[in-house]
Amino acid sequence: METTLIILKPDAVQRGLMGRIISRFEDKGLQIVGAKLMQISQELAATHYKDHQGKPFYAGLVGFMTSSPVLVMAIRGNGAITICRGMMGATFGSKAAAGTIRGDFGVSNSFNLIHGSDSPEAAERELGLFFKAGEVLDFPRAGDRWVYDMSSGKAE
Ligand code: RTP
Ligand code: MG
Repeated sequence: METTLIILKPDAVQRGLMGRIISRFEDKGLQIVGAKLMQISQELAATHYKDHQGKPFYAGLVGFMTSSPVLVMAIRGNGAITICRGMMGATFGSKAAAGTIRGDFGVSNSFNLIHGSDSPEAAERELGLFFKAGEVLDFPRAGDRWVYDMSSGKAE
């Protein structure tokens, strides 16, 4: 099972979209194993987006991410990283396909509602930045046997 870091960005929180976005992940069968509302510091935003330092949009991105609270979540499932990226849609709201979170809830390119880790390495690094030990939980859900086919011994 993979765990990925999802951030509902300030625009998603301010626009009252948290519930609808969380429902999409739950409806898919993914498991929310960590969640907290927080205000991101300049320092944390800079560390999180260090790969974008020096790019023209970097200052605006850090300003946006620190402007108002965000909801950070750890989301788990088979192939969760790729599945969540697909559900998010293309980076820019103006380009994201209908049926995706960015495609359905926004039109802006920079206010694009959601962040998701883009690789297993990024997920591990980012989960470590936003969650302390013990804040990402491991627990079975009653309905899990109907989310995955476990007849071969592993989740299919
Ligand atoms: P994210 O990291 O937030 O999940 O988004 P992403 O992978 O789809 O996009 P990425 O290339 O990592 O860019 C990070 C965030 O920077 C803003 N951005 N603005 N104006 C621009 O050209 C531009 N490019 C990127 C977006 O807010 C994007 O989510
Ligand atoms: Mg990215």
